[in-house]
Amino acid sequence: MDASLPVIKSLFEKTFGAGGTVNVVRAPGRVDLIGEHTDYNVGFVFPMAIEPEVRMAFRQRDDGRVRLASTAFPGQIPEFSLEEKIQRGEPGWANYSKGVAAKFVAAGIPVTGMDAIMANTLPVGGGLSSSAAIEVATAWCFLSLGGLEIDEARLALLCQKAEHEYALMPCGIMDQTIVIGGRAGHAMLLDCRDLSRQFVPLDPNELRVVIVNTMVKHELTGSEYPTRRRQCEEGVAFFQKHNPSVKALRDVTLKQLDDAKAQLPEVVYRRCRHVVSENARTTEAAMMLGRKSYERAGQLMVQSHISLRDDYEVSCAELDFLAEEAMKVKGVYGARMTGGGFGGCIAALAQPRAVEALRNHLTRTYLQKFNITPAVYVTTATAGAGLIE
Ligand code: GLA
Repeated sequence: MDASLPVIKSLFEKTFGAGGTVNVVRAPGRVDLIGEHTDYNVGFVFPMAIEPEVRMAFRQRDDGRVRLASTAFPGQIPEFSLEEKIQRGEPGWANYSKGVAAKFVAAGIPVTGMDAIMANTLPVGGGLSSSAAIEVATAWCFLSLGGLEIDEARLALLCQKAEHEYALMPCGIMDQTIVIGGRAGHAMLLDCRDLSRQFVPLDPNELRVVIVNTMVKHELTGSEYPTRRRQCEEGVAFFQKHNPSVKALRDVTLKQLDDAKAQLPEVVYRRCRHVVSENARTTEAAMMLGRKSYERAGQLMVQSHISLRDDYEVSCAELDFLAEEAMKVKGVYGARMTGGGFGGCIAALAQPRAVEALRNHLTRTYLQKFNITPAVYVTTATAGAGLIE
């Protein structure tokens, strides 16, 4: 999709008519390098913002109404009023923006009506956080129209709430945080307990992040995510009984977990083992990348994939295949599934000169095995969302 400024502005005019001031915001997608299913367990994640993004062209309205359009869903123009209770509903893609509008109103943040059209270079539903990008882009439209600035962590929490209540997805805080606060050339080590962050530079002369989309989305996702959350909570409840200072799996060590193995349901034990070990891998990988110990960081990514596959059970045949095949290419340090799982993308960390071989190898072998051509994105780490015009 061509989402260049002239194209998106002319699409805006075609949809909503000419005149007035039309501005444009962007919100990037994200890829998580390591630290999966740890955010809602109050642990560590290590994402970066990526080049594929959502752009939104918008213009103020004076009647308190919001009209939305999306190049991904031509012909649909859902509309709602900021002065009435905002209801979720059809079409589903509008719920992310509706949720943000509703949460802003509820938080007492001034909002004005607008017409807005979005265009993506980010695949919708591809596990690269198109939902958070739409939420944050919408938030930026409202903030720009109001001439407002807002604390990043507060904005992330508002957008997360929007997703919980309007898209009914009980997500963690990773996606919104990185989409808002990404830094060009850096990955972010985020502590999901206090939302503090550290940035680790990724040297573009030495590293590329290659994202490969399986192009599948197994329908399990909807129910499996909340199930994983519940299983982790069951683990927390067990440890809390013995030690009330345990508030999350973040507070449990591998040793404590192993000591409790016989008393926990087997599946709960494995879910907890993933989370506890993933937290340790994530902080170590961030440190290793900072020290340019790429081999070690890569090994940790591979271990993360295995843990997600065997202990957390959120991978699938397509993700396993791509992650394994990626490691056969010389110059690839590590590869793993990224995001919620059951489809979506893998992320590989590679030397720049390995990128073309990796692209060719995965495209050819994946086509052979699954009869699908995967989409490949080679990306640097970009800045978080903002006004571009
Ligand atoms: C989804 C959620 C995130 C996070 C990941 C798994 O992307 O939106 O909050 O939980 O899954 O790490």
